[in-house]
Parts: sequence; C-alpha cells; structure tokens
Amino acid sequence: MLQKIENPPYAEMLLAWYDRHHRDLPWRTSPPMTAKGLRANPYHVWLSEVMLQQTTVQAVKPYFAKFLAQWPRVEDLAAAPSEDVMAAWAGLGYYARARNLKKCAEAVANAHGGVFPDTEEGLKALPGIGDYTAAAIAAIAFNRQAAVLDGNVERVISRLFCIDAPLPGSKGAMRAKVAEITPANRPGDFAQAMMDLGATICTPKRPACALCPYNSHCQALDHDEPERFPVKAAKKDKPVRVGAAFVAVNNTGEILLRRRTETGLLGGMTEVPTTAWTARIDGGTDTEHAPFDADWEAAGTIVHVFTHFELRLSIFRARVSGSIPFGANDEWWEPITNLDAQALPTVMKKAIEQAVPLAFNKSRKT
Ligand code: ADE
Repeated sequence: MLQKIENPPYAEMLLAWYDRHHRDLPWRTSPPMTAKGLRANPYHVWLSEVMLQQTTVQAVKPYFAKFLAQWPRVEDLAAAPSEDVMAAWAGLGYYARARNLKKCAEAVANAHGGVFPDTEEGLKALPGIGDYTAAAIAAIAFNRQAAVLDGNVERVISRLFCIDAPLPGSKGAMRAKVAEITPANRPGDFAQAMMDLGATICTPKRPACALCPYNSHCQALDHDEPERFPVKAAKKDKPVRVGAAFVAVNNTGEILLRRRTETGLLGGMTEVPTTAWTARIDGGTDTEHAPFDADWEAAGTIVHVFTHFELRLSIFRARVSGSIPFGANDEWWEPITNLDAQALPTVMKKAIEQAVPLAFNKSRKT
C-alpha cells in the first residue's frame, strides 16, 4: 500500500526527473537554458504544437524542419502562397490544420505585428488555436501557469489519481487535476515533462513504472493496474464509404490531377479524379462513373481510414494519348517525376501508387 503523504511535491519530483531525462526536440529549449530564463521561440512552439496534434514526434520532425527552412518567420509563412503551404503539409493529414495555420500566420503578421499574444485568451482568439494549443503555447513559450492536457498527459494523470470516469467526459476533471499540480515556477517545463513522461515511461502498454518518478505515489500502480487507465468510452464502428479513383497517364509520362474544392474534407488539396464517396455499396465504384472514356483497367482497391469513416476506393488506370477534353474541373497534367511537390494527401498517394507502382520513387529527389 502507498505510504500516505498528504501533499507530495508532484511538480518538484517531475521537474527533477525532466532535468535529467528530457528529450531534446528541435522546437524545444531544454532545461539548462530555461534555467537561465531563455524561452523557446513562440513561432516554433506554435508550429510544432499544431503539427503534433494527432501526429507523432517522429513524423513531425522532418515537416517542422522543412517549414522553418522555407518560412523562417511567421511573416514569411503569412506571405506564402496557400498552394505551397498545402503542398508542404501533404502527408501530415488533418488538412484543416494547414488551412488554419496559414490564416493564423496572417492574423499574427497583419493584426499583431508579427508578435504572438502571450496569454491563453489572446492565443485562443487566433484561427485554429483551441484550449489545448493555447495552454501549451502560453506555458512553453511564455511561462504562463496554464494547465496543459494532451493524450500523454491524460494517461499520466488518470493513472496517478486513478480517475476511472471514461474519456472524453472526464477531461474536465483531469484538467482540474493538472491545474492543481502545475507549478508557478517552470510551468512550461512541467507541461513538457508530463508529455515526455507519458511518451517514454508512462506508455499505453507495459509502462516502465520502475523508472517513474511518481512510482511511490501512483494510485493505479498501487492497485497493480496502470494499463487499465485512461478508461475510454466504447468506440462506435466506423461507417464505410466507397468510391472509385481514376489514374490516367499520358504518353509523355504525365498524370491527370485536379484540385479539390476549398471547403470540406481535404479541402484545397490535390487528387486524381474520383467519384463521390458514398455509403452505398451499389454506386460509384466502376468505370461507368469515369470522368472520360478510356480503356480503364481495374488495379485493385485501397483502404484509407479517416477520423469519421473508412474509405474503400476501387482504383482504375488507363494510358491515354493526346489531350483529354477537360471538364469544368480544375484539372491539369503533371509529370510523374514531380509528384512529390504536389499537395497530395496520403489517400491519393496510395491510390496513385496502387495504379503506378513506384510513382513516388520516380519523383523523389535524391
Ligand atoms: N506533443 C505535443 N506537444 C509536445 C511537445 N511540446 N513536446 C513533446 N511532445 C509533444
């Protein structure tokens, strides 16, 4: 049983661990620097936090480096053409984030003189910045005593205090606990320490409790069941939608692409022509719905899982000669050797690769 200590110094214990075991991450100012009062660049913190929503640290690193090389300051990003930002974002998913990123950069550059607001309220008034991102930026970039709660922190907190009401309903209770233990001194380091603890020690499966700074205070460990937390409400099965995608290649090695409308799922991104994606199994999956007549050959199916549904696309390919009479859509022929520079979301890369194996290797710059 736990030795009951009324008020363990949660923040001090975690910060001492963080000083020794923090991850060095490209957007982060590490403890020896923060101890000297140095803070991370708010533009870097904002960019990384938006990228890290629903995406792993490993996946984000190369995108973060690419964005900063291309747009070193928020004013540069604000002035960039939207197509370039969408193309640089392609592959990270959740494309509304990229559209909001651009809008937010414009707001900071034009309405705030290039300076990010330094309070949660001020940050929340910007496009694409919600409770979590505002708290994270306020804490990490401005050392505000904000309660930062992401998926990693939910795991740590729910285990530490045995919160067994299911998520997402218990978020409020969890945030209150985080607020209770967030220190006035070094709140930014504390927030990042919670994230690092969740990512490296307090993992979903087989947590390394023997190495955890909280192991003599963790209520879930005391009951021998850390993996039971956080408790989550049962997930509903995802609905399935179906459709067909048409990969046309001409005799000069170009592929027919088009741009999706600005609004809605994958808005403003690039795609090969597809039918509408429908819940009806009997419609839209064959060449009857092709965008033009050609010798369409079936090339299998791909499956892609979005947040709210699973998509099964039948893939068709055709070699076409000469010019196809384009419809009203915004279509163009793109050399296959230039596919990597396009704003193609992962689902479209899968569709093209299914029809033209190694298409992206051909396009990758060495
Ligand atoms: N996940 C989200 N934000 C993070 C950060 N600042 N450091 C590490 N992991 C994160």
